[in-house]
Amino acid sequence: MGSYLVPRLVESGHEVLQVSRQQRSPYQPHGAWKQVRQVSIDRTPAEEAGTFGDQIAALQPDAVIDMICFTLASARHLVAALRGQIRHFLHCGTIWVHGPSSLVPTTESQPRHPFGDYGIQKAAIEAYLLEEAQRGHFPATNLHPGHIVGPGWVPLNPAGHFNPQVFVDLANGEEVALPNLGMETLHHVHADDVAHAFTQALAHWSSAIGESYHVVSPAAVTLRGYAEAVAGWFGRPARLRYLPWDVWRQSVRPEEAQATWDHIAHSPHCSIDKARRQIAYSPRYSSLQAVRESLDWWLAAQQR
Ligand SMILES: NC(=O)c1ccc[n+]([C@@H]2O[C@H](COP(=O)([O-])OP(=O)(O)OC[C@H]3O[C@@H](n4cnc5c(N)ncnc54)[C@H](OP(=O)(O)O)[C@@H]3O)[C@@H](O)[C@H]2O)c1
Repeated sequence: MGSYLVPRLVESGHEVLQVSRQQRSPYQPHGAWKQVRQVSIDRTPAEEAGTFGDQIAALQPDAVIDMICFTLASARHLVAALRGQIRHFLHCGTIWVHGPSSLVPTTESQPRHPFGDYGIQKAAIEAYLLEEAQRGHFPATNLHPGHIVGPGWVPLNPAGHFNPQVFVDLANGEEVALPNLGMETLHHVHADDVAHAFTQALAHWSSAIGESYHVVSPAAVTLRGYAEAVAGWFGRPARLRYLPWDVWRQSVRPEEAQATWDHIAHSPHCSIDKARRQIAYSPRYSSLQAVRESLDWWLAAQQR
């Protein structure tokens, strides 16, 4: 996501320091990277040694955007080091802080019922940061992206997993099986819209501190609607078959079944009204437009 966020921050006039292990390069080249100071820190051993927070504080940032916090202990460690030192802290969460959808579109104010370690930890981090911020102890904002897509990502497919063969089958007019009635939902977002949300939250800091925002496209897709759209991009009618979950899961690899289960058990469908209102979030991409760009990137990469 930094591939999209860092250039946007530079273009907004921020002086940017990027902290990573320097193991990966941006998904897309951009001249803005020349203006970015690279700082090499491996968070995992630094946290184990209890030095990570102090290393970040020593950089004397005005704002910190934490893209890779996955445990409450990790969040507490960083907050302890940065308390009183920064003007704004942005945490990258996930829409999986919600468990299964109930009233949809889901709003940020609905009670959290997360499941799975990832969602449970992210919900605990969110609750902790909101508590700290709302008591005036720490200037935190939570941004919760949906399923991120865009050039650089193999998109989450219409069967709810990551095997790109589903796209190939739809493009070739082959039959594709979907679980249940194909009416469960996915909620994608383009990585550049996520980057836009972070820059908007920074710019609207006085509204954003102590708040959480969904960062998704304007509307979720059903598996079925998504599959039909993909087939249509290739001039095909979608040949879809619907199988009860217990039958469907036997038709794919165990890791695919697990990914699909995780996605359809959440069936996210999140509202962006609050982000639109408070931080002027204005996504450029619908779910299908975002997936299409991602898929075009992946298809081009196959031909190189
Ligand atoms: N992917 C999704 O669909 C999705 C959806 C919702 C929310 N999210 C959230 O998005 C956030 C980031 O996701 P992402 O997909 O952008 O992650 P990512 O592609 O894995 O990027 C992580 C970044 O952090 C750096 N990094 C990784 N481990 C590190 C370490 N131990 N120490 C220092 N730097 C490290 C990586 O660079 P180096 O490897 O060079 O260190 C990279 O720049 C996470 O908080 C995740 O929960 C993701």
